[in-house]
Parts: sequence; C-alpha cells; structure tokens
Amino acid sequence: MNWLTNMVLSSIGKKLLMAFTGFAFCGFLMGHLAGNLSIYGGPDAFNSYAEHLHALGPLITIAEIGLLLFGLVHILTGLTLFYQNLTARPIRYSVNKSAGGRTLGSATMPYSGLIILAFLIFHLLNFHFVDKSETTIYQIIASAFQNPLYIGIYIFSMIIAAIHVSHGFWSAFQTLGLNHIKYMPTIKLAGIIFSLAIGIGFGFLPVFISITS
Ligand code: HEM
Repeated sequence: MNWLTNMVLSSIGKKLLMAFTGFAFCGFLMGHLAGNLSIYGGPDAFNSYAEHLHALGPLITIAEIGLLLFGLVHILTGLTLFYQNLTARPIRYSVNKSAGGRTLGSATMPYSGLIILAFLIFHLLNFHFVDKSETTIYQIIASAFQNPLYIGIYIFSMIIAAIHVSHGFWSAFQTLGLNHIKYMPTIKLAGIIFSLAIGIGFGFLPVFISITS
C-alpha cells in the first residue's frame, strides 16, 4: 500500500488521478448527453428513457456512488495541485505548465472547475433530489426552463464546461503520455469536437425545451 500512498502524494500521481477521473467524467458526459438527446423525441421519449435508466436499480446506485467518489477525488486533487502551484513560486513545476501554450481553458481550469461544481449542486438539487412521485421528469425540467434565469444559468454553465473540457481532454492525454507528435493534431481535434458537443449539445436543450413546452 506504501507505493499507492507515495503515488497519490507525488505531483505526477495527482496528475494521473486527475487524468483518470477526468476521462471517466468525459465518459459520463457522453452518456448523459446521449440520453438527454431523447428530449428531442418529446416528453414520452424522455420519460421512457428515464424509466429505463431507473429500472437498472442497484447498477445505477453503484454508478452514482462511483461518480461521487470520482468527483471528490477530481476536485480535492485539483484543488491540491492548484494550491501547490500557487505556493511553488518563483520557480513553477514544469508539469503544471501547458506544453501546448496558454489557452483560455488552461488558464482558467481551477475557476471553471469550481463553477461546474456550483452548477452540479444546483443541477442535482433541481432535477435529481426532487420528489418525482406526482410528476414526470420531463415535467420537472420543462417547468424549470420556463424561467429565463434557469436557461441563462444552464447556457453559461455549459459554456464553462466546454472551456474546461477543451483543455482537460487534451491535458489528460498528455499526462498519460499518449501525446505522440503524430497523434497530437488528432487528439486536439477530438478535444475541440468533444467540447463543442458538450457546449452546444447540452446548451441548446434548455432553449429547445422552453420553446416546445
Ligand atoms: C441541458 C443540460 C442538462 C439537462 C437537461 C440535464 C438533465 C438531468 C436530469 C433530468 C437528471 C436527473 C435524472 C434522474 O434523476 O432521473 C440529471 C442528473 C444528473 N446530471 Fe444532468 N443534465 C444536463 C447537464 C448536465 C451536465 C453538463 C452535467 C455535468 C457537468 C450533469 C450532471 C448530472 C449528474 C452528475 C446527474 C446525476 C446522475 C445520477 O445520479 O443518476 N448534467 N441531469
């Protein structure tokens, strides 16, 4: 177990944890977006998707616990790296610098991460931890998006999420040593496509829901 403690305490160990949990979140986001696209099929399609998901029972609970643990590791490790980076001046550890040049995404990772955390708490309180016995999940989201403030908060948060993953996606490949010069342009392009899919895919849903319901 000693090697595990040493690994977690080292800078590269923390970067690996960030990369691994970050990839897991990218997977979750792809799944969540794919499921949410059923909203375009109307209330019945979305409610039926949600029912099928909940029918998975204990599997969903296990996935939720995994997601929560990964979220805690990602946030706590990210905050530790951010703090170490701040206190490591005047000579910063080179691993913490973006080898791909400073971008909006790389310069704002801790801040965009904290905004996503605030969004997640808001999101779960509104859509997850609510009494669904007398209503449907579509009804819950449709009434939320009648409020322009909700639409604004969601669009803003989706732009921030897209900026966060635009750097995180590429950075995770770099940390895992998968940034061979030959594949880098493809990885960067995949990162751009992925972040656009998150920003536009999720961001347009509240607008669509408010127009159609
Ligand atoms: C327009 C955008 C989004 C919509 C309409 C939406 C909708 C929903 C709904 C309806 C649920 C509750 C499902 C249920 O309990 O039956 C949910 C859960 C959740 N959403 Fe979203 N979501 C959106 C974007 C996001 C984003 C961008 C993230 C992550 C940054 C996210 C993370 C989560 C998480 C972690 C859960 C809890 C999953 C679970 O425990 O089953 N969502 N979402």
